[in-house]
Amino acid sequence: MRQLFALVPYMTRRPLLLWGGLACLALTAVFTSLIPKAVGGAVRVVEEAASVRGPGGAIVIEWPRLWSAIGLLLLFSTLAGLFRFGMRKMIIDVSRLAERDFRDGLFRHLLSLSPSFYDRTMTGDVVTRLSSDIDALRTVMGPGLMYLAQTVITVPLILVLMMLIDVPLSLVALAPLVIVPFLVLAFSNELHRRSREVQDQMSTLSNMVQETLAGQRVVKVFNQEAAEEAKFGEINEEYVRRGLRFARLFAGFFPLLHGVFAAGLMITVWVGGVRLMSGAIDFGDLSSVLLWIFELYWPLISLGWVMSLFQRGAASMERIREFQREVSDVADREPAPTPLPARLRGEIEFRQLTFTYPGASTPALTDITLHIPAGRTLGIVGLTGAGKSTLAALVARLYRVPPGTLFIDGVDINALPLAWLRRHIGFVAQETFLFSESIEDNIRFGRPEAPRSEVEIAAELSQLDDQIAGFPRQYETMLGERGINLSGGQRQRAAIARATLLSPPILILDDALSSVDTDTEDRILRGLRGVMRERTTLIIAHRISTVMHADEIIVLDGGRVAERGTHAQLILREGLYAQLHEKQLLEAQLEAVD
Ligand SMILES: Nc1ncnc2c1ncn2[C@@H]1O[C@H](COP(=O)(O)OP(=O)(O)OP(=O)(O)O)[C@@H](O)[C@H]1O
Ligand SMILES: [Mg+2]
Repeated sequence: MRQLFALVPYMTRRPLLLWGGLACLALTAVFTSLIPKAVGGAVRVVEEAASVRGPGGAIVIEWPRLWSAIGLLLLFSTLAGLFRFGMRKMIIDVSRLAERDFRDGLFRHLLSLSPSFYDRTMTGDVVTRLSSDIDALRTVMGPGLMYLAQTVITVPLILVLMMLIDVPLSLVALAPLVIVPFLVLAFSNELHRRSREVQDQMSTLSNMVQETLAGQRVVKVFNQEAAEEAKFGEINEEYVRRGLRFARLFAGFFPLLHGVFAAGLMITVWVGGVRLMSGAIDFGDLSSVLLWIFELYWPLISLGWVMSLFQRGAASMERIREFQREVSDVADREPAPTPLPARLRGEIEFRQLTFTYPGASTPALTDITLHIPAGRTLGIVGLTGAGKSTLAALVARLYRVPPGTLFIDGVDINALPLAWLRRHIGFVAQETFLFSESIEDNIRFGRPEAPRSEVEIAAELSQLDDQIAGFPRQYETMLGERGINLSGGQRQRAAIARATLLSPPILILDDALSSVDTDTEDRILRGLRGVMRERTTLIIAHRISTVMHADEIIVLDGGRVAERGTHAQLILREGLYAQLHEKQLLEAQLEAVD
């Protein structure tokens, strides 16, 4: 529970709203508790009128007294209502605003974490913590706080008011109610457990739906609709079963509580009657006490509910804290060299770099020594899993680079401010990711202020311009869920346009032309060659045709540089590269025959 105190700073950020809300809360409790008192006053007038008859048995009501009692009742009810409105408004506002700030903070933190965090964390898990776990915290700050404070103020207040009327009656009447919080607590654990079961099953169900729908093409071509349907049916069935288990417990719980309160009322009527006849109290007093018993009903029950809210909140906070404790393993730590050059030249040097992914047992790259002068193009080929993407990721410092092994413009990459470094790198990742925005905004992603003319030049360079012209709204065409879907090759070209728009001194193309036909590839490369003259370019590819014009080509094998040289030199070596080349030539010839 202690971890929930971390929410306090978020709530006190708006002190007026918070204290105003709490003041309203206290006043609501006071006026609500006074209502039975006013009712008692009115009953007293009526009772006296009924028992003390005037001459000839006529009923005499003291109207001014009755009206003032009713007026008081009206006044208390109205004030209680008004303050309740103020309380809800202000406290709920505080909790919503605090929730927003908290979520903003967590999202900012999540953005700062490096890919290695996301490698070992499921996206669904991140989303749940950002949504329903934070929602649980809001429930603590809003309804949780509100009902807790209400109970804390109302219960003692009513006890005092009752005691002021008649101590023995109060003690007897309250006796059965003492067990309510215990009863609620006992049940709340079980209720909590069962509601948790329901929630968990809901997660399972939504995960299953999400995966099946995301992979619906796979499901269809493998003819697995019936199997998926059956699996869903089972999960859904279990959800209902758990829901019913929860409902059964609930169904038993409320009658039990009602029973306790009914016992309280019965004892009050009985003992109250005795006290009435002995003259210790009058009818008005008895009515007040009965009403107070009713008023205690909700605060006492809500106590258990509030406890479970706090428990749930504490559990969620713990889950969120796990993420908050994470620190990026590539954050800027070392002081930047001063002065930083205004612009990067783009010289890249690896010195005996060995790199192992966090959590992996064997290195993905071993003893890489490589010098790429500024403005040169390096081609990288190698079988799948050879370490090509890893090499590229390290140049963008997406993972923690061992100190003294990778230098950009002669400076250890760890000493370069991350944001500054990445501003100078255009990266086309192996898996293209585009946002559900317009094609134009996608290309502009790294430079939101770039004018349309530059976007068009970038699209032209990546050979996407002709196709954009054919889209329903050209550059404003929306992509993804709200628009059209691009083909694999179109997506890659959009990603290339996005990277070249930055005119970066270092350009990295990780298998960026794999889904493009060889003719288009040729045109893109020719276009890029003009651009590449001034930039250091890393081109990763499986096709020899993509890299053959590079200044130098390396062949990675099992994380090591197996061969290096120009295209001509590598062919002469008759190694892995030459084999690949031969195989691909053969394939091309076969295709031509088709
Ligand atoms: N995020 C990661 N965490 C742990 N290991 C990884 C991670 N990414 C890649 N690896 C491992 O590192 C090795 C090199 O992977 P890498 O992605 O660099 O290969 P690649 O040459 O790009 O292959 P491909 O041609 O298939 O793209 C592989 O053995 C892979 O399993
Ligand atoms: Mg790769």
